[in-house]
Amino acid sequence: MSWLARSSRTLYRSAAVLRTRQGALSSTAPAPGRIVMTMTQQQQQHRYSSGPKATSPSAGKREHTAAEDGSNARTDDSITVEYPAADKLPASKTVAGAGRTGVHVFPTLASFSLQEKVGVVTGGARGLGLVMGQGMVISGADLAIVDLNKDEAARQAKSIVRMFKKEHPDAKKLPKVTTHFADVSDPESVEACIAEIIAEHGKIDNLVTSAGFTENFEAIAYPIDRMRKLWGVNVDGTYLFATAVARHLMDRKSKGSMVFIGSMSGAIVNVPQPQAPYNAAKAAVRHLCASLSVEWAKAGIRVNCISPGYMLTALTQKILDDNPDLKQQWTSLIPQGRMGSPEDLMGPVTFLLSDASSYVTGADLRVDGGYTVT
Ligand SMILES: NC(=O)c1ccc[n+]([C@@H]2O[C@H](COP(=O)([O-])OP(=O)(O)OC[C@H]3O[C@@H](n4cnc5c(N)ncnc54)[C@H](O)[C@@H]3O)[C@@H](O)[C@H]2O)c1
Repeated sequence: MSWLARSSRTLYRSAAVLRTRQGALSSTAPAPGRIVMTMTQQQQQHRYSSGPKATSPSAGKREHTAAEDGSNARTDDSITVEYPAADKLPASKTVAGAGRTGVHVFPTLASFSLQEKVGVVTGGARGLGLVMGQGMVISGADLAIVDLNKDEAARQAKSIVRMFKKEHPDAKKLPKVTTHFADVSDPESVEACIAEIIAEHGKIDNLVTSAGFTENFEAIAYPIDRMRKLWGVNVDGTYLFATAVARHLMDRKSKGSMVFIGSMSGAIVNVPQPQAPYNAAKAAVRHLCASLSVEWAKAGIRVNCISPGYMLTALTQKILDDNPDLKQQWTSLIPQGRMGSPEDLMGPVTFLLSDASSYVTGADLRVDGGYTVT
């Protein structure tokens, strides 16, 4: 039996529900927001009996690798992962930001500094957005954290400033970190939020659009309302914030830099979890970045994309705790042999927002441990 088949067995044994091919849920259907791995009995039978027959004379049976039966490069329709409700999302921890504890590297290239800049990060209350926001603060910026969950954002803002004080006890100026509610997919909410940020900070120079989410359903059973919501947050949300900040920069006749958080899923198809709408949404984010970078170059506004690979956030950690075999499958496809940590994005985002990248626009920076070049 291949390692993949073995891990698949374990994976499916832990399945909480069985779902019919027609999409009807059994009586053990999960509450919305619960993460489940499902597989029909018919699918299990097919999976465990598929593949060429054994031929090895010595063993009587020859084991076939996952590569031989092609299962490495296929999606598995039975994997269903629904994005949890906001109150079920685990909180993220504030990371030690200044690098090696107690070690301050000086001097370094001044062009990497975000001093005197005001940055906005959407989806900044947790996960990657939170850590990238912290990276901006450590690099000298003031920060506006935007999220649906303003309470969590407020807790994290305090924690970021506390950590900054601890790491820079002699700092003459503390960063200003504010928090703002917005549903990034709603134009009115976005406009109100931008006005609030400008009222509090006086201006905006940098934007990072990290609000977004993924979930897994086979395409033929993807609930249309969930798909629209997914595109609304990932694509509309990026577009609405980017255009609102661009209008502000153009009014001020000021240059600025934006980073859209895409995903390697915008360039490749992840396996085994099916997620066609998410992949398409992230491809849209990447090309939106390219298109806007050309349209706004004459205004001095740079637009770049960061496409992370598999990153270990509090949320992905929870999914993997529930499904340890999935981690093995993912990691086996990453040349660096590990998932990324959110801190791996601190440097790339600072680089792209700062003058260190002043001749870089329209780029897609893959931060994926080499996943997409294999
Ligand atoms: N974690 C990964 O492995 C990974 C890999 C590639 C790309 N990404 C992308 O990175 C971004 C951040 O992912 P994450 O793992 O940090 O997710 P996360 O769920 O930990 O954090 C997302 C944040 O966005 C907020 N949010 C969601 N919908 C919103 C809305 N409509 N308006 C405002 N805020 C909203 C949430 O409240 C949450 O705080 C997403 O765009 C995701 O697609 C993540």
